[in-house]
Amino acid sequence: MSAASFPEQFVWGAATAAYQIEGGASADGKGPSIWDMLCDKAGAIYGGHGGEVASDHYHRWAEDVALFRHLGLTGYRFSVSWPRVLPAGVGTESAAGLAFYDRLVDALLSAGIKPYVTLFHWDLPLALYHRGGWLNRDVAAWFAEYTALLVRKLGDRVDHWMTLNEPQVFIGHGHYDGRHAPGLKMSLGEMLRCGHHALLAHGRAVQAIRAESPRPARVGFAPMGFPKIPASHAVADIAAAREMMFQVRDANHWNLTWWTDPVLLGHYPEDGLRLFGKDAPSAPAGDFDVIRAPTDFLGLNIYQGSRIRAGASGQPEVVPTPPGFPLTAFNWPVTPEALYWGSRFAFERYDKPIFITENGLSCRDWPSLDGRVHDPQRIDFLTRHLRELHRAIADGVPIEGYFHWSALDNFEWADGYKERFGLIFVDYPSGRRIPKDSYHWYRQIIASRGRAVLEASAVGVHAISFDAEHAEAVRLSHPG
Ligand code: FCB
Repeated sequence: MSAASFPEQFVWGAATAAYQIEGGASADGKGPSIWDMLCDKAGAIYGGHGGEVASDHYHRWAEDVALFRHLGLTGYRFSVSWPRVLPAGVGTESAAGLAFYDRLVDALLSAGIKPYVTLFHWDLPLALYHRGGWLNRDVAAWFAEYTALLVRKLGDRVDHWMTLNEPQVFIGHGHYDGRHAPGLKMSLGEMLRCGHHALLAHGRAVQAIRAESPRPARVGFAPMGFPKIPASHAVADIAAAREMMFQVRDANHWNLTWWTDPVLLGHYPEDGLRLFGKDAPSAPAGDFDVIRAPTDFLGLNIYQGSRIRAGASGQPEVVPTPPGFPLTAFNWPVTPEALYWGSRFAFERYDKPIFITENGLSCRDWPSLDGRVHDPQRIDFLTRHLRELHRAIADGVPIEGYFHWSALDNFEWADGYKERFGLIFVDYPSGRRIPKDSYHWYRQIIASRGRAVLEASAVGVHAISFDAEHAEAVRLSHPG
C-alpha cells in the first residue's frame, strides 16, 4: 500500500439488516419476529411506525442490487431474517424464505459484490420468545440449528459470516431498559444471563459454520465498538483513553469488554465480574470453550466516540464537548477519530483483523426542488471518517473493509422512519429510490479505490460530473 492509497483488497461496502429493509413481514409464510410484536405495541415506536413494508426490499431486491452494482460496492453486509427461513425458529424450514436469500446471493455475486452475511440482527422468531427467548439456555442450540441450515444452503457461495450484531444493544435495550424488542425490563442478573446465552449461541454458531461450510469460511461477530479518543497526543491521555475503552464502569450493558473478552480472550473481564458481583452469570466451566471458538476477524460498529484525558488523580475522565459541537440528526457527536482509535485499541487488545461493519449518520434528507437529494453532511462525514480509517491502516492496523450504514434509508428501530441513514433515499409511500449525492460521491471514491478521498480536493469531488451518472442511477432505480 502506498501512503496515498488503501490496500488493494480493501472491501468497499455498505450494510443493512433484514428487519430494517425487507418488509414482507408475513409474505410467503414468514413467521413473526419479536420486532413485529413490539411494533404492534402502542407507543413503542416513533409515530406508530412498523416494519410491515419497511423499504420493501423483499420485493425490490433486484432493483436494489442493480443500484449497489452501479455504486461499485465490492462487499454488501446484510442479515438473514431467522423467522423468514424458519418460521417457528426451529423445525420446518420455509423453501420460499430460503429461496429469497439464495436469489439475493446469486444476484450479488453476478454483480461482482461479495456477500457478508450476518446471522442475527435482532429479529428473533416470536415462537422462540414464547419458549423463553434469550433467557432459555436452549437458544444456543436453536441458533446453531438455524446457522447450520443457512451454511448448508448458502455456504457454497458465502464465505464471510457474522454471528451476532451488537449483543450489547439487543440484549440490553431488549431486556434491561425495554426500548427494543422484546421490550422487557429484567433485573441486571437476568439480563446478564440472557447475554451469556447470546455468547454461547455465538460460539455454537461458529462451531456450526466450521462443521457445515463446504469451503474455508471466515467468521466473526459485530459488537458495538465504544471507542475512546485521547484528548491529546500526550502519553498519559492515550493511556487514559485506552484504559477507559476497555473498562466495565457501569452496572449495565454499555461496554465492549463484557461481550468481547469472552469471545476473543475466553473469559469475562475481572472488573465486570467485580462490579456485577452476584449478578454475574454462573457459567459451567465448559461454556468458555464454546464461546471462545476461534474466529477470524472482529467486526466493529462505530458511530461515535468520546474524548478522554488523564484526570488530576491519574484516572481517565471524559472531556465535555464544547457548546455547538457538530451533531448528526440523531444528536450523535461527529467524531471521525473514533475510527482511528477504536480500531487501533481494539487491534492492540484482541489481535484480530478488523472490518468496520457499520459507520454512518442520519441526516434530515429530502428531495430538493431539483429532484435530487443533497446530503453534503454525509459526504463530509464520510470523507473525514475514511481518512481516519486510512490513517489507522497506514499505522499498521489490519482493517480489511468498511461497510457504510446504510445502503438505503430504512426502519431505525424504536425511532421508526424518522432517521435516514441511507446512501439511497427511499420515498416510503411509493417505495421509490433516489440515490443521494453521497451515493454518487461514494461511487467515485470506490472507483478510485479510495485514492480520491485522500486528495485535498476530495470534498469537492461531488461537484464534478454527477449529471450523466445521476441519470443512469435514476434509470436503474426505475427499471422498465
Ligand atoms: C446500530 C444498528 C443498526 C442501525 C444503526 C444506526 O446500532 O446495528 O441496525 O440501527 O445502529
